[in-house]
Amino acid sequence: IFDVRKLTGDALAWPALKGAAKLLKANGTVAFPTETVYGLGANALDETAIESIYTAKGRPSDNPLIVHISRRDMLNDLVASVPETAARLMDAFWPGPMTLIFKKRSVVPDKVTGGLDTVAIRMPSHIVARALIDLSNLPIAAPSANLSGKPSPTTAEHVIHDLMGRVDGIVLGDDAMVGLESTVIDMTGDIPVILRPGAITEMMVAEIAGDCETDAALKALKGEKSVPKAPGMKYRHYAPNAEVTVFTGDTVGIIKAFEAAIDEAAAGDYKIAILLFSEDLAVLNRLMADNTCGLDHAVLFDQGSAKDPAVFASRLFRDLRASDDFGCKRVLVHGIAEEGIGSAIMNRLLKAAEGSVIRI
Ligand code: TXA
Ligand code: MG
Repeated sequence: IFDVRKLTGDALAWPALKGAAKLLKANGTVAFPTETVYGLGANALDETAIESIYTAKGRPSDNPLIVHISRRDMLNDLVASVPETAARLMDAFWPGPMTLIFKKRSVVPDKVTGGLDTVAIRMPSHIVARALIDLSNLPIAAPSANLSGKPSPTTAEHVIHDLMGRVDGIVLGDDAMVGLESTVIDMTGDIPVILRPGAITEMMVAEIAGDCETDAALKALKGEKSVPKAPGMKYRHYAPNAEVTVFTGDTVGIIKAFEAAIDEAAAGDYKIAILLFSEDLAVLNRLMADNTCGLDHAVLFDQGSAKDPAVFASRLFRDLRASDDFGCKRVLVHGIAEEGIGSAIMNRLLKAAEGSVIRI
């Protein structure tokens, strides 16, 4: 365990990070904080190091990993060419929550890319992540530091819960600021294609690149079978043990549905979790004024104001995990408008809910 939570000053000088970097150089696995979610890192150029990542996570090996760098010049060793549009996107959004897919060079092992001829690269902005990459002086392959299928970890406690004893080191830092994984953008075609929505939105990309599309398979998540281009997007993901249902449409109707579900939980003597907006809380409390026994069966999670989706994004995975800790059988979620980071929130929610959406 490398605890860097109280450290200040130049991260490159922290003995804890030097220790963690030493493990990475010895081809070990180290979990560390980034601005999006915690990652589980290892030397991207070493096959056995990569295998340890898949083993620790219990992850299918056809699901490729993102390679993390701390300087632009590290890119040239890993990718065959850098399209001009990609360079502009990097100028605009690196370091930050954006991953770009390029044609790979042969030094990048097939184990990293799941056999694809492309590689995903990201330059994180988190000072701990950057210092760790700098100190190890290696490109670091790092998927999210959760057990495969669980919500991505946004706190040090989540990482300990999932990976303690399964990895060589864990860097304990602060809670992730963004709370959702990076935007993954395929740069190998004529125009950028978003394979996984994130904090860098389609509009932000289009503004810099002139044009941008979102993988049609993601838009069709709600029903039809089509295979998303990011291999990772086809697995059940982000899911707590509880059954997740997403509600969209009329707010008052949704809150009435929440109240009905609380009554059902009270009658069946089980617990449910409800993820709702601050604005909803007052309405629900009014509806529940005469129904005090019901609230023993509901755990309410405030996702902040409906007007501030960044708060929802930062709390979503934490609250899905907490729902399990409270022993909730169901999780009911007030969905959010699919604009800005709202698209990324709904993408993760629809996957967690396996398409179970109720429109009111
Ligand atoms: O924010 C993040 O991206 C975090 C932090 C740790 O950086 N990492 C992360 O990695 O979310 P992971 O492995 O959980 O998700 C990587 C996603 C998967 O959906 C994977 O299929 C996709 O990126 N991906 C990776 N390489 C790809 C490639 N060559 N082509 C298409 N998709 C790729
Ligand atoms: Mg992941």
